[in-house]
Amino acid sequence: MAGASASVLNLASHRRRERNVPKWDPDLYLRFERERSLPCRDLIARISEVQPSRIIDLGCGTGTSTVLLRERWPAARVVGFDNSPEMIATARSTHPDSEWIIGDLRSWTADDPFDLVFSNAALHWVPNHAELFPRLLRNVASGGVLAVQMPVNSGSPAHRCVREVAARPTWASRWDSHLARSKVESAEFYYRQLSPQSSEVGIWVTEYVHVLPNAATILEWVKGTTLRPYLDLLPSPEDRETFLGEILLELNAAYPPQEDGRVLFLFRRLFLVAHRP
Ligand SMILES: C[S@@+](CC[C@H](N)C(=O)[O-])C[C@H]1O[C@@H](n2cnc3c(N)ncnc32)[C@H](O)[C@@H]1O
Repeated sequence: MAGASASVLNLASHRRRERNVPKWDPDLYLRFERERSLPCRDLIARISEVQPSRIIDLGCGTGTSTVLLRERWPAARVVGFDNSPEMIATARSTHPDSEWIIGDLRSWTADDPFDLVFSNAALHWVPNHAELFPRLLRNVASGGVLAVQMPVNSGSPAHRCVREVAARPTWASRWDSHLARSKVESAEFYYRQLSPQSSEVGIWVTEYVHVLPNAATILEWVKGTTLRPYLDLLPSPEDRETFLGEILLELNAAYPPQEDGRVLFLFRRLFLVAHRP
């Protein structure tokens, strides 16, 4: 890695620790790219009646969603935006011909509104949706679209296992109230935020059933997302291993194998498409 890029990453890690922002692992995240890109494809398929010439992909991560947007609208200018230097570094090295911006969604506004403001599996990490969603819509050009997908999976057995283990006396003192947790509101909430500024709001929920080899694979999946804020607070490899081992025991019980030995990982996701008049 070039010296300048390395020092940008070091500075970013330092600032992240100060603000308690969890660190993303691009390789771990990409391990489930096929499963994770499904909802992104489904969201893109529902965006009709718009031919965007300017698109922004908010929380673009490693660029999987950005590339799908480019494939769908090859004539459009597509910008990927994310606050993780690690994710943007991977996106930039894989797709050097695209435009990538490091920035924070907690304060983002565009100089010029975009025809499509898109976000797949990112906004649940950003707090205060009552402020965020109207602001995002204000950055959509007239006749354009805001399209968002977020997981609504906190009631799943996997999340329950993580919460239960994290609340055990051995671990509970290791986290504090600032621990970053994803937060998604109800469909009614988003309708209330979006409808005053929209000509049409579409909302739907899909539950995906991912067929995975075993419960250990579910652990790998949640290590790349839900568990990141916890693992960041466990610097010792031994502690991490013990913590993950306890979660795996719970996951094994919560996801019994099917006759062929595989497990079914159910995953609910909320989709929002708001059209600007
Ligand atoms: C689960 S990844 C999704 C990546 C991509 N959209 C996809 O579909 O593969 C979530 C991304 O949101 C980004 N993110 C979280 N909070 C953010 C914030 N406040 N500002 C910008 N990006 C943020 C993370 O850095 C991460 O790359």
